Amino acid sequence: MSESFTITVEPLGRDVKCGSDQAILDACLRAGVWLPHACTHGTCGTCKAQVLDGDIEHNDASDFALMEFERNEGMALICVATPSSDVTIEADVEVEEGVTHHPVRDYVGTVVQLDDIARQTRRLVIDLDQEMAFNPGQYVSIEVPGRAVTRTYSMGNPPHEPGQIELQIRRTPGGIGTDGWVFKTLTKGDTVRLAGPFGRFFLREARTEPAILIGGGTGLAPLKSMIRHVLERGLPHRMYLYQGARTQADLYDVEFFRGLQDQHPDQFTYRPCLSDEEWDGPTGMVTDVVDADFQTCRNHTAYLCGPPPMVEAALKTLMRKRLFPKDIFREDFFDASDKATGGVRSPLLKR
Ligand SMILES: Cc1cc2nc3c(=O)[nH]c(=O)nc-3n(C[C@H](O)[C@H](O)[C@H](O)COP(=O)(O)OP(=O)(O)OC[C@H]3O[C@@H](n4cnc5c(N)ncnc54)[C@H](O)[C@@H]3O)c2cc1C
Ligand code: FES
Repeated sequence: MSESFTITVEPLGRDVKCGSDQAILDACLRAGVWLPHACTHGTCGTCKAQVLDGDIEHNDASDFALMEFERNEGMALICVATPSSDVTIEADVEVEEGVTHHPVRDYVGTVVQLDDIARQTRRLVIDLDQEMAFNPGQYVSIEVPGRAVTRTYSMGNPPHEPGQIELQIRRTPGGIGTDGWVFKTLTKGDTVRLAGPFGRFFLREARTEPAILIGGGTGLAPLKSMIRHVLERGLPHRMYLYQGARTQADLYDVEFFRGLQDQHPDQFTYRPCLSDEEWDGPTGMVTDVVDADFQTCRNHTAYLCGPPPMVEAALKTLMRKRLFPKDIFREDFFDASDKATGGVRSPLLKR
């Protein structure tokens, strides 16, 4: 049976109960102690904290995100570290004006929709057993049945639909969660177990500058949540959505976003971009299209989401166009291969 330990979180001075097989971050988020995190799988380094007292297991922390010398200095990735005694940590607690953080909870869901929406891409709609409060852009962690692993997927629906979540999932060849489950055995009516909400990639409502949203592949999902939130709640943000894909077969929700653009021509601009096919829309890497569209990106905010190389390229483009790191929010869709090869790529931005 799992033992229970006390985690003291400094500089907040908060005590949290944590099982010996529970990640320290998980215990904190469930207790309403919000600490910075992004991937929750030991890959990105965002959750790095100093262990001031007590013993922990590092478990599945990437050697790139937590280097040998950092382990020796008592640092830990608390999204994967578990306690072996009572522990005191010092975390990089940030308080953001106007942001409400919602505690993480467990949910049981029923798959009510499972559709192929583009090449190797499925939309999953899940009815939840209780409403989930979240910020637009956050994600859930789903248990892969029979595999003792979880996989993370971003909500594509807005928070004012709290009883249901929409996920957009791309198949990864050889992947446990996608190839081995979502694209293989999962069917409508199945029960799924998940937890959420996680992540700090969400719309900053207090930032009302025009927003440039860039999504590659299923990186569209959290951006769709933000866009629907803004437009359906009557918020003032001016938004430019860039959806990057290789060919038309990889694009989805095109008619949906074209419809939004028609309804809100002064507030929402939609730019789907194809890198590998000529068509009647913008052609080229999504970053090239943004580059050509904006003379300067000063006085904007940006939200970037998708495969890590695309996010990195978009970050560089925006910074060349005079956007500062404090104005850029990013979500890298890391997977297991990033942990093995080094998911932490950019020294440019604090994750
Ligand atoms: C915050 C966040 C949000 C995300 N949101 C979404 C989303 O909305 N939609 C979406 O489609 N995806 C999303 N992802 C990605 C998603 O969580 C999964 O990583 C992805 O679906 C692959 O999972 P999998 O189980 O199929 O593949 P995995 O089993 O994780 O395998 C991934 C790849 O790594 C390789 N691999 C496995 N183990 C190793 C190893 N030890 N060494 C080297 N290579 C290895 C596999 O062969 C495969 O090619 C998100 C990721 C993050 C971090
Ligand atoms: S959140 Fe812990 S390493 Fe990414």
